[in-house]
Amino acid sequence: MTIQKNISLKQYNTFGVDAKAKNFVVITSIEELREVLDLKAYPDKFILGGGSNMLLTKDLDALVILIGLKGIEIVREEDSHVVINVMAGENWHELVLWTLDHNLGGLENLSLIPGSVGSAPIQNIGAYGVELKDYFISCEVMEIATLHTTTFTRRACKFGYRDSIFKNEAKGKFVITSVQLRLSSKNHDLHTSYGTIKDELMRKGIKHPTIKDISNAVIGIRQSKLPDPNILGNSGSFFKNPVVDEVTYNDLQKKHPSIPSYKVSENAIKIPAGWLIESCGYKGKRFGNAGVHKNQALVLVNYGSATGKELLALATQIQESVLKAFGIQIEAEVNII
Ligand code: FAD
Ligand code: EPU
Repeated sequence: MTIQKNISLKQYNTFGVDAKAKNFVVITSIEELREVLDLKAYPDKFILGGGSNMLLTKDLDALVILIGLKGIEIVREEDSHVVINVMAGENWHELVLWTLDHNLGGLENLSLIPGSVGSAPIQNIGAYGVELKDYFISCEVMEIATLHTTTFTRRACKFGYRDSIFKNEAKGKFVITSVQLRLSSKNHDLHTSYGTIKDELMRKGIKHPTIKDISNAVIGIRQSKLPDPNILGNSGSFFKNPVVDEVTYNDLQKKHPSIPSYKVSENAIKIPAGWLIESCGYKGKRFGNAGVHKNQALVLVNYGSATGKELLALATQIQESVLKAFGIQIEAEVNII
């Protein structure tokens, strides 16, 4: 374990922003994590996973700690389920592939989401009708200030849409070191009703899909609309889809009859931010080195050498346009650092 100085973070964030870390270290064991968190010479610590949900707007003075904890194990087998423990530094999509290889069901709709397992609870990753919370049991954490380890149960994590305690009162206070998930080992409960999964399966002539078929369908859909960060820097959806009440929605619907929407509960309606942004004319537009993706208006892209500040300026301009046109304040989903 060596603390490196003045390291470019370009290859450590999927936006490909060239911000620097004054101090950078990779930890591969709990003991190393404890040791670096205890270093009094570096009072500020910044935890890095796959860098796929952050916009770096400045160089970091803090000690950047890349979580390299590895390991996946089955800890309990029940009649039709198993409980697995996964270390925080495992790659999320590789975990999904591992579960498919072991015929364990639950994570297939969450295929191809970039990033590390330890970051998955932070925004309760979700896609195609499934969220992490649906399979989550608990996570182990180390408190940065005290080095105490403790367990957060599903309830304690206070999961919501792209939300958890780790984005609120526990923000920046803990390192998630491992995650426990409960997956089905037989009679898998398949989720095919969201979006175009059914169409994709039908197109392939699949009538009785397996969990691998669903994973492949999700991968196909994602590849057709989301840019590959290895080719075009991005951080997935830059904004959250706003949720409005019925009165606000009815008002919007009168003014914009074609507005798409999804009812999420009695008085809560989700509006796709991609539609709001596209309606403001941003889809496919380029502003210097930053831009809005041509297939998905919710995704901001870096054409190569955009700075975090340039991308943030574009995000702010989009927020202002959406507010002016629709009276809706869209919030960043990406962590602005
Ligand atoms: P990072 O960006 O490294 O970190 C995110 C935040 O968590 C930071 O604040 C960091 O300090 C903190 N952090 C990281 N690791 C830890 C840890 N172990 N303990 C404590 N704090 C930590 N998200 C979805 O939900 N659904 C999608 O469909 C989706 N699609 C995407 C598609 C693309 C192309 C991209 C680029 C991103 C997408 N995302 C999606 C967003 C992203 O993949 C997820 O948010 C992912 O969980 C981020 O993981 P990460 O390891 O890269 O996190
Ligand atoms: N839309 C447009 N124009 C666009 C993009 C979208 O009009 O350019 C409208 C369409 O009506 C479309 C609807 O938005 O039907 C939904 O689009 P899509 O299915 O692509 O999903 P999304 O709401 O844009 C969300 C998540 C994604 C997740 C997908 C699939 C958020 C913020 N984003 O996107 O997550 O993969 O659904 O479940 O909830 C991420 O978090 O980074 C991410 C990619």
